[in-house]
Amino acid sequence: RIVFVNGSFVPYEEASIPIMDRGFLFADGIYEVSAVIDGKLIDNEAHLARLERSLGEISIKNPYTTAQWIELEKELIKRNNVREGLVYMQVTRGVAERDFAFPKGVEPTVVMFTQEKAMRASSAAEAGAAVITVEDLRWKRRDIKSVALLAQVLAKQAAAEAGVAEAWMVEDGKVTEGGSSTSFIITRDGTIVTRQLSNALLPGITRKTVMRLAEEAQLRVEERAFSVEEAKAAAEAFLTSATSLVMPVVTIDGHPVGDGKPGPLVKRLRELYLAMAD
Ligand code: PDD
Repeated sequence: RIVFVNGSFVPYEEASIPIMDRGFLFADGIYEVSAVIDGKLIDNEAHLARLERSLGEISIKNPYTTAQWIELEKELIKRNNVREGLVYMQVTRGVAERDFAFPKGVEPTVVMFTQEKAMRASSAAEAGAAVITVEDLRWKRRDIKSVALLAQVLAKQAAAEAGVAEAWMVEDGKVTEGGSSTSFIITRDGTIVTRQLSNALLPGITRKTVMRLAEEAQLRVEERAFSVEEAKAAAEAFLTSATSLVMPVVTIDGHPVGDGKPGPLVKRLRELYLAMAD
């Protein structure tokens, strides 16, 4: 397995990061995940644009241009012979003696690795995912894709302990998003509903593409917050992310959504997404 660390492609066993890296000490860094299908990156330029924005919001200079990132990602995919899976990219503020304020004159630390994962033929997508709801314990800048993920770790651990795939995080009675995905419901009149963008959630790249595909297919899309009760009473539900693409949600806190099976509109959206990835 070959990974990328600070300008070099090296075997995973030889890769190392100093203990004073601010990503390790302060979670002072940003990450991105792009899907790979048939060896090709999906929606990658949008992921790189969000990486640039997230870095800017915490005043870390993007170490590479979009073209350079793409070249590095492609090289890593090639060296690891990835057909289906993902590329993970992380940039931290760098290595410095521990002190909270930004250190001067440090170079960002860049790490990239690939993971193999079945993307197209997914038994999870066939069966649909169960989710639980948990309180959203995160900070107020969830629009930044920061590596500070403790609240999501706890949310997704609660999901794992409940034997389900994802935790939907809830604030003031309304769903913000999943631990690592965007939440959607489809109302009984066929309207696709997902929360409007704000600092309360990550602007999902898959979310945006799915909304575009839905609109092109003449489906109604509404951006607004929805409650857990509304989600449980919805006709269909689903989640989106670079790692799950479009995943039907079939139960919420043990309560079946619709007839408790992946619904027709969600199946159609997943097919449209996979067709786009062709
Ligand atoms: N997570 N919301 C949160 C909190 C996320 O962490 C993610 C992605 C999403 C979906 O965004 P996108 O469609 O751009 O992948 C929404 C990645 C996959 C992860 O943490 O592994």
